Amino acid sequence: MKNTIAHKSLISISDLSKEEIEMILHKSMQIKKHPPGEILKGLILATCFFEPSTRTRLSFESAMLRLGGQIIGFSDAGSTSAKKGESLQDAMKVISGYADAIVLRHPLDGAARVAHEAACIPVINAGDGANQHPTQTLVDLFTIQECQGKLNGLSIAFVGDLKYGRTVHSLASACSFFDMRLYFISPEQLTLPEYILHDLRKKGVKFSFHQTIEEIMGKIDILYMTRIQKERLAEGEYEQLKAYYILKKNMLEGAKSTMKIMHPLPRIGAIDYDVDSTSNAYYFQQAHNGIFVRKALLSLILKEAS
Ligand code: CP
Repeated sequence: MKNTIAHKSLISISDLSKEEIEMILHKSMQIKKHPPGEILKGLILATCFFEPSTRTRLSFESAMLRLGGQIIGFSDAGSTSAKKGESLQDAMKVISGYADAIVLRHPLDGAARVAHEAACIPVINAGDGANQHPTQTLVDLFTIQECQGKLNGLSIAFVGDLKYGRTVHSLASACSFFDMRLYFISPEQLTLPEYILHDLRKKGVKFSFHQTIEEIMGKIDILYMTRIQKERLAEGEYEQLKAYYILKKNMLEGAKSTMKIMHPLPRIGAIDYDVDSTSNAYYFQQAHNGIFVRKALLSLILKEAS
């Protein structure tokens, strides 16, 4: 397939067609099997993180360095001129002159779109508030395909903070490209936003709401756990909800032997440590896959050929 994402921003998973998602997953698989050489030599990636990150920032930086490119950027906005009051738009215009692409994480919903409109180089959204995290979704789809051997005909349960969990928002939308049955399990206060449910209904996706993980355990192929988003809740509300869903080893009785547990991480209590040794646990493989998918994205966005 022709590379249709070269030199383009990636702000929302909806920016991509099904064919483009499949192209990125195919490229990621090729890269995992046959690591390429220094194909991005001479290019610079700016990683601009206005919010904390371990996996997304470090896997982007590692991917760029392993492909022969270089990185500039910051992981603490307090050390930048944002602290003096510089606007995101001005910062993006300026950084456009210093790099070939920007990876941006920001606490505000919609910030990545604002950055894209101001920048003269591609902007990759590494998470904007409670809105979207499209590169995590590509990692998640790659991981689902890897552990289940397919993306169609699967049942996926999303558990935890579905209101503020941006990885859930992006992945639930992407599921509509494939034949997937979705189960949503969350505290009442943290259900999936109506605009996403509306979109799923419009696209004919089958979904249902549940109170407990146990009631759907035997039906699912993927259990997608998420943490309660402390940074987006009032303190009292967080304390009340933080332990609402904790996956324990004994809850896996009745699960399909092929069922895999995923989590975008950090887990922050959502999965007990004794689950790690089960054959169902797949969240560390998922985090490791970040490197292959982000290598694929950088090579497709920064280079012309697919
Ligand atoms: N999955 C994810 O976004 O992790 P980080 O917050 O560590 O980047």
